[in-house]
Amino acid sequence: MIEPERLVRGTVLDLPTYKTGVSPHLLKALDSGASVARLGSNENPYGASPRVYEAIRSVHDVNQYPDGGNTSVRVALGAHLEIDPDRLLVSTGSENVLSDVFVSVLSPGERVVALTPTFMLTDILTRSIGAISMGVNYEDDLSFSADALASEAENGAKILYISNPNNPTGNAFSSDELRTIVSATSPETLVIVDEAYYEYAVRHEGFESSLPLLDASERPYIVLRTFSKAYGLAGLRVGYGIFYHPDLVPLVRRGNTVFDVGTVSQAALLAALADQAHMESVVDKTLTEKERVLKALEKRNVRVFPAYGNFVSLWFREHNKAIELENALAERNVFVKALPARAGEGLVRATVGKPEDNDRFLEALAGLA
Ligand SMILES: Cc1ncc(COP(=O)(O)O)c(C=O)c1O
Repeated sequence: MIEPERLVRGTVLDLPTYKTGVSPHLLKALDSGASVARLGSNENPYGASPRVYEAIRSVHDVNQYPDGGNTSVRVALGAHLEIDPDRLLVSTGSENVLSDVFVSVLSPGERVVALTPTFMLTDILTRSIGAISMGVNYEDDLSFSADALASEAENGAKILYISNPNNPTGNAFSSDELRTIVSATSPETLVIVDEAYYEYAVRHEGFESSLPLLDASERPYIVLRTFSKAYGLAGLRVGYGIFYHPDLVPLVRRGNTVFDVGTVSQAALLAALADQAHMESVVDKTLTEKERVLKALEKRNVRVFPAYGNFVSLWFREHNKAIELENALAERNVFVKALPARAGEGLVRATVGKPEDNDRFLEALAGLA
């Protein structure tokens, strides 16, 4: 029989494995009933709106296929965002919108310009297609230079991907910086601004949605948002893209499956969207806690990236040191994520959890010093 590895495309064989926050160690701890602090995946620790659970219970027609066009969801989202529903693509998480777009837009050998490090899936999708990732590193002061990204984009790209705020560092560009970057792109470059952490970031001075400047830019663009973070629906997998042109939406779906978002997830999204007060209260609590965690880290002289999302990222000179910390914290049932950063450097990304989770994280860190 043919070896499975010989069946798979070479560009796929060479890919790194995406590191999810649900590790075997976490599963074991959960199975044993141990109390754990889950700070590895930037989830909302307070849960979804109670209306979501009611909506889920009231779904009865699971024997029938869902509306593959997500019509009621897009109409509700369109009204909320004041955007034509035909410009919206709702899918099983914003990661799937990203995947649909990369797979249908990118060809082998084309360039994707992004920050380094950034949301790892973009690099995986780029390399899997045989396209080329061009990364722009952070500076020594842990900021990203808009001018550096603009000059890289100026060299030409099929896609410019900006996670704003940037996962896994937490940095965000201001509207002026984004304008500089976007205006350096060719009108043939698709600009993707991933605003997965928008609901948290927008509370920070100087941060605004990229939509108005992208609308004015006369560049093709997609803005990604998700219900996995502030709305607390990570387990139900719903996210969406706002497209510059409605005709691009069916085109990026053409090469994919017909159904993706299930009936339960569609009902949950509608209920979560209708309870803005719940989402806002989650953001309030998270931002208060984030300030507390940042102050505690500052006292310990830890170098931390600017934090515009619902997580804090600690810088390490060596990636190995970050992995050691991740493992040592996991021994104490505190689950964070170590990730590679600039040239051999690393970071430990910790979600801002409930006060008791953050206390455990800070105490475990102190215990390891
Ligand atoms: C920047 C960024 N984009 C997209 C996603 C994927 O989100 P979703 O759960 O909507 O697929 C994440 C998840 O962590 C993220 O950090």
